[in-house]
Amino acid sequence: MTATGEVGGLAPNHTVKSRNQKVHMSREKFSVGGVLYDRPFKIRRLNHFGISVDNTGESLKFYRDVLGFYVSDSIDTALSDPGPWLDGVPDTKIYFLRHNSDHHTFVLMPRPWIEHFEPPQRTDLTVNQITWQVGSLCEVVEARKWLVTLGQKVDRYGRDPGSNWHTYFPDPTGHTNELEYGIEQVGWDGLSKPVAMWPWRNDHPELPFKSEVTEVAEAGARGIDIFSGHRWTDDLPKTYDVGGVLLARPFKPVRVGPVSIFVADIDTAVAFYTVRLGLTVSEETVVSGKRVVFLRANTEHHSLVLLPLELRSILGVRDDSTLLAFGVQLGSYEQLRAAKNFLEKNGVKVIDLPQELHLGIDYVVHAVAPDGNMIQLYYYMEQVGWNGQVRKPANRRRVVPGVWPETLDALSDTYDGETFWGPLG
Ligand SMILES: [Fe+2]
Repeated sequence: MTATGEVGGLAPNHTVKSRNQKVHMSREKFSVGGVLYDRPFKIRRLNHFGISVDNTGESLKFYRDVLGFYVSDSIDTALSDPGPWLDGVPDTKIYFLRHNSDHHTFVLMPRPWIEHFEPPQRTDLTVNQITWQVGSLCEVVEARKWLVTLGQKVDRYGRDPGSNWHTYFPDPTGHTNELEYGIEQVGWDGLSKPVAMWPWRNDHPELPFKSEVTEVAEAGARGIDIFSGHRWTDDLPKTYDVGGVLLARPFKPVRVGPVSIFVADIDTAVAFYTVRLGLTVSEETVVSGKRVVFLRANTEHHSLVLLPLELRSILGVRDDSTLLAFGVQLGSYEQLRAAKNFLEKNGVKVIDLPQELHLGIDYVVHAVAPDGNMIQLYYYMEQVGWNGQVRKPANRRRVVPGVWPETLDALSDTYDGETFWGPLG
């Protein structure tokens, strides 16, 4: 990864100003796999997301049994990090959940343990990680070095269960962001890596580093049974026909995100996520007089929505969290309609929010989990092509709130974007 000096017409010591803070961007350009960027990494997609909850076991029942996430691993913090901070905690386990072959795409953390281990900057921070996948180990390491040169606080870096190398750092409001590379892939047998192979590290290695296949061979040579990890099984009755496959619910999560968060200062937050992390603003809107900004990492209309904290009370949503909603994309419009009925029949509260909060998504179900977190279910997200243009509002599908047609005409980008690779279940 090479800093190449003045390339690309940027003024030396280019500075982007926001109302309350300057986000300094050096004139350097960095080669990311031979292509020059303003930073030594390129975020490819939102990979996973984590929340801190009071009772991980209770929350698990909803995200696993109702929404359909799989458990890939758990860690009992009462064993790994015992102490008085766990007194009275109903479930001391961290649960790693996935909807695809990534080891985790969603994480449930015991809130009292997080508040001991990584004390949040604010009492209403229940988001414990917003994790962005980059393209190589080199990018994770060089990102950390670069962030440090900018004076960016880096909370920790290394490697955790799930095998992904990472660098953790907060956004200006305190939401922990993570850059990751190399997350473990779980295959048809549902087997995760055994605990004996978990690659805990609190550092980054000298590069280049050995490949995973070498690590697996070394584990075998050390006498580790490489097939002794946690195995996902699911005994729930499977009676719903989802595209010709019997599942325990009438839908299948196929993608995670967007994350919609309230931020202390919207201008500073936008500068952080664009200038520092390289996300692109797809669109902005105004809700009740407040600026709302939609950002993307790839061709999706958005993976992140930034909203000013003042909107929280105006919208009447929970006031003890900066998380407005976490998105879970379902496999089809038919599944989304079925999900709405299924959730309501199972006593899950479904609420309406202004359409301006989900630009680029047409039909949406906002489901309130029993733990109070809002899940934004949808099936379609507008895709943004090479020229960076989003669809003109007049060309978008008109959605009448509360009206769910049985079928829809296809748009040019319906079912486009990141697709689900494997069997539905
Ligand atoms: Fe993570």
